[in-house]
Amino acid sequence: MSSPEQTVQVDLASRSYDISIGHGHLGTIGSLTRSWLQLADEQPLKCLIITDTNVMQPHATAAKQSLDAVGAETRVIAVNAGEGAKSLQEASDLYDQLVDFRADRKTIVMAVGGGVVGDLAGFVAATYARGLRFIQAPTTLLAMVDSSVGGKTGVNHPKGKNLIGAFHQPAGVLIDTATMETLPEREYRAGLAEVIKYGVILDVEFFDWLEQNIDGLNRRDPDVMRHVVARSCELKAWVVREDEYETKGLRAVLNYGHTYAHAFEALSGYGQLLHGEAVSIGMICGSRLAARLGRINSSDTERQAKLLTAVGLPVEVPSAMHDQHDAILNCMLLDKKTVAGDLKFVLPDRIGHVETIGGIDSDTVLACLAGD
Ligand SMILES: NC(=O)c1ccc[n+]([C@@H]2O[C@H](COP(=O)([O-])OP(=O)(O)OC[C@H]3O[C@@H](n4cnc5c(N)ncnc54)[C@H](O)[C@@H]3O)[C@@H](O)[C@H]2O)c1
Ligand SMILES: [Zn+2]
Repeated sequence: MSSPEQTVQVDLASRSYDISIGHGHLGTIGSLTRSWLQLADEQPLKCLIITDTNVMQPHATAAKQSLDAVGAETRVIAVNAGEGAKSLQEASDLYDQLVDFRADRKTIVMAVGGGVVGDLAGFVAATYARGLRFIQAPTTLLAMVDSSVGGKTGVNHPKGKNLIGAFHQPAGVLIDTATMETLPEREYRAGLAEVIKYGVILDVEFFDWLEQNIDGLNRRDPDVMRHVVARSCELKAWVVREDEYETKGLRAVLNYGHTYAHAFEALSGYGQLLHGEAVSIGMICGSRLAARLGRINSSDTERQAKLLTAVGLPVEVPSAMHDQHDAILNCMLLDKKTVAGDLKFVLPDRIGHVETIGGIDSDTVLACLAGD
């Protein structure tokens, strides 16, 4: 059954676009695409849909049917599921597909999938013929609340994640929360870490609301999902509007928990710990660090840990990592916020507000790997 849809506007001058959030409305993506692109019914529409092998059935197929029904010429390409698809080689194969499809400057690229598909397809759209219009239909919670908002696209270099990329805002985003019915439980819960992060960094009322809706979160209740996705998109859209190209420092607030998380992900071997799981643990370490520096009450750390635990996320550093101090610090020094060896952390001073703090000595950083 489909419930009412909600639209979040991303306000970026000439690059503004809508995010349409609903439950069971993926089948309207054809008509929405025509309306976003201001294409009348009789005007031609050509669309390359990029998806992955897990999302192809039933979601990318449903998107294709919807586009076919509005007279579009479509082709669907499924890349292998997983981070490995975010490569220059895969992008190059997709350029070949666009050539073969006789794509021109009016051809649309559509991503139907998680963050991997979104980043890859967005990068191809940003670069082919100096930029094709791009539409996203994210199908993981992480992609719905994070990677599909903000216009960052890219692929990985063998030496580093997301090293090759471009800013390219979509023409529209359709979020059908019913597509998450096929999403594995662990992937879903990992996405909730970024949702809880928004509450801590920007919105105490949202954090309170999440605490009051734990059952709905765990059941993936459609109304709860809609509010979770809409509020998260609004908050990220606000940050992006204020700092679209990450030049003013504000966008950095989104990195709360991430300096620790990147180290945990790297040490556990990518894939062992999902990004959202590492962020969950990283937020708790960050909040402990803020408490050690006298910036926040430890009861606020407890509140975060309680909520994260209630939605099934880990909050303790895996024991195998406790003694790996040098390796953890080395990863942190590679973090993009680190300038000239000065570790910088986004730290809360209360639930709903964070600041970027530098000049923290490494012993204090490491002391927060364990609770008191
Ligand atoms: N551009 C940005 O601003 C931004 C922000 C955050 C993360 N990212 C990127 O996003 C990527 C991670 O995204 P992700 O967590 O969505 O990973 P993902 O795209 O790999 O999806 C996770 C897994 O779920 C599967 N899947 C996706 N949707 C499904 C569905 N509805 N049903 C069943 N299976 C489904 C995928 O095939 C994959 O196996 C990373 O590459 C990260 O760098 C980008
Ligand atoms: Zn993240």
